[in-house]
Amino acid sequence: MSTQFKVNPQPTFVDWSTGDLSGEGIEESVKTLGQLAGLFKDEAAWRSMDPVTEVYRVRFWRPVPEGTSGGLFWGATILQPGRVGDEYFMTHGHFHAIRDRAEYYATVKGTGAMLFMGEEEHTWSQTMKPGTVHYIPGKVAHRVVNTGHEPLVILASWHSDAGHDYASIRTKGFGKRMVVREGEPCLV
Ligand SMILES: [Fe+2]
Repeated sequence: MSTQFKVNPQPTFVDWSTGDLSGEGIEESVKTLGQLAGLFKDEAAWRSMDPVTEVYRVRFWRPVPEGTSGGLFWGATILQPGRVGDEYFMTHGHFHAIRDRAEYYATVKGTGAMLFMGEEEHTWSQTMKPGTVHYIPGKVAHRVVNTGHEPLVILASWHSDAGHDYASIRTKGFGKRMVVREGEPCLV
């Protein structure tokens, strides 16, 4: 799209009550249960569910081309509530391809958990609720988990050259999982 990359891009628009993103050049990607094979521990439960079930969608703005050094992207993620067995719906999770690139996530709506994992698989979490702003340091994998009953909406900003390394998570996962225990989220 010739109009997408401009020296002085027009502003995009966030509805702060819903997190919805609109404006020129907004892109969207949707992840379904079927596309998240191998992510959840309870494979039998995963198989029993409808593979076209939407788990999350990301609407994002890339005012400069992917891979540009020194640029920034902006995005909104809507993560649906639900579970596969006892494990809450979550995003795939990733390291950045350029490992030292940091990122911000901020919660607009809903409740959840931000999962972090260092390169040595040490895993920890932070509670997400409307207004929380989460700094993701470089070299730390990150994933969002919806522990509530409504969609979890977050905004994010990341480096345009950060890239995504999903493969490390696909093969090894995170060091811990967020599951329900006696009605409460529990990192195990
Ligand atoms: Fe990221």
